[in-house]
Amino acid sequence: MSLDFRTKKFIAVTGGTDGLGKAVALARLAAGDEVAVIGRDPEKGRAFLDAAAGAPGRAHFIAADLSLVGETRRVVDEIRARFTRLDALVLCARHYRSTRLVTAEGLEHNLALFYLSRFLLGDGLLDLLEAAERPVILNVAGPGSGTGEIRWDDLGGERGYHGSWALAQGGQLNDLLGIGFTQRWPATPVRYVLLHPGVVNTSFSGEYDADAAAQVEAVRAGAAPVERAVTPLLDVLENPPAEPLTALVAGRWVDVTGPEFDADAARRLRGETTRLLGSVASAAPGVAPDRLRRLLDSPVFATVATVESDGSPHQSVVWITRDGDDVLFITAVGSRKERNLRRDPRVSLLVSPPDEPYTYAALHGTAALAAEGARQLRDTLAHKYTGRSYADHNADAAARHGEIPITTVRLTPHKVTGRL
Ligand SMILES: NC(=O)c1ccc[n+]([C@@H]2O[C@H](COP(=O)([O-])OP(=O)(O)OC[C@H]3O[C@@H](n4cnc5c(N)ncnc54)[C@H](OP(=O)(O)O)[C@@H]3O)[C@@H](O)[C@H]2O)c1
Repeated sequence: MSLDFRTKKFIAVTGGTDGLGKAVALARLAAGDEVAVIGRDPEKGRAFLDAAAGAPGRAHFIAADLSLVGETRRVVDEIRARFTRLDALVLCARHYRSTRLVTAEGLEHNLALFYLSRFLLGDGLLDLLEAAERPVILNVAGPGSGTGEIRWDDLGGERGYHGSWALAQGGQLNDLLGIGFTQRWPATPVRYVLLHPGVVNTSFSGEYDADAAAQVEAVRAGAAPVERAVTPLLDVLENPPAEPLTALVAGRWVDVTGPEFDADAARRLRGETTRLLGSVASAAPGVAPDRLRRLLDSPVFATVATVESDGSPHQSVVWITRDGDDVLFITAVGSRKERNLRRDPRVSLLVSPPDEPYTYAALHGTAALAAEGARQLRDTLAHKYTGRSYADHNADAAARHGEIPITTVRLTPHKVTGRL
């Protein structure tokens, strides 16, 4: 079955080459959707494509090791190149390790794969998801067990590692990831669903020592078959919940406002995530135009540099928006910035995503000033950054400054540098 562009859904599934992820992917292909699965193993990728032979052109395999930040970023780019919208992002990749492994990027393997890749994929694909009608991120892990396993001062388990601890901590970090997602993107239409599938007889991807392998075999005996356990995942994709964040544990909805779902811990994790990503070698030099456009479209604060009359630099922070490749902001007539730009139109503007501060783009160009449309632009910017009109957001300033003339600044970049 193949549906037309409007009806068919576009779905990305990490860990879609095995277990629950593969079952989701095949079921959605059978329903007519277009699905990209991500896994490491090309053999499994081929097997998936063979199994999807009845859906020509709608099944894709992206080979990537999601325990690497660089690879995860590449996956984001590949999905963006393939799809113009994403109805669902299903996060199923995980890999148990009895022995602690540090990735080539210096991060503990489970932390990088089970938590960080899910963080990067959700944020990196946000605008693609927002282009869908009822978008959902389905994070399949083990919600509702609180935060007791999280070692805030040793997230990578340097001081005493055990595979089941790493998995338990990863599950709890994913709960906080869901909470943090709704904290960071309060107005997004994307629904975030945390889901525990129960114990399911999947491939249990991992490298197990003898004890752990014996435990897995014992668990398998009582585990549900994939064909049955996949039903709640498919239900979520078919009919995403209305609430921004929900959690489903073995088929039952649980309260995400309870003590197991700790909003302060989620805020704390955001800082830790920034630190972890900062420890990874930054993105390769160069700025991907697509990433730059996405960053400029997000409510990121920009630092503008102009040239003073004595040649020294002057900087200030502004709200920005984009028109094609030009960047627009406003400034008051008579401000230092405005006077500098009238004298010397050379300008540079720097943006750095708050959650990935080791990446940035610097745009160098010239500025053109125009009074026309400035007030409208100020409202557009206020809506983008605060969700309200300028007068509602800043009633005092509006009253105090009355009709201070403002001007639009259009920066046309001649050169873009950075790592993004
Ligand atoms: N099964 C259960 O009883 C159970 C219980 C609770 C929660 N869950 C959760 O359900 C989700 C799905 O579990 P499952 O048991 O269905 O999975 P699974 O059968 O163990 O399959 C894991 C998937 O992850 C992929 N993967 C592993 N390492 C990867 C890496 N470095 N980069 C990219 N992909 C990688 C594997 O593909 P490659 O081999 O190609 O890399 C495979 O497709 C997981 O998040 C798990 O935590 C499962």
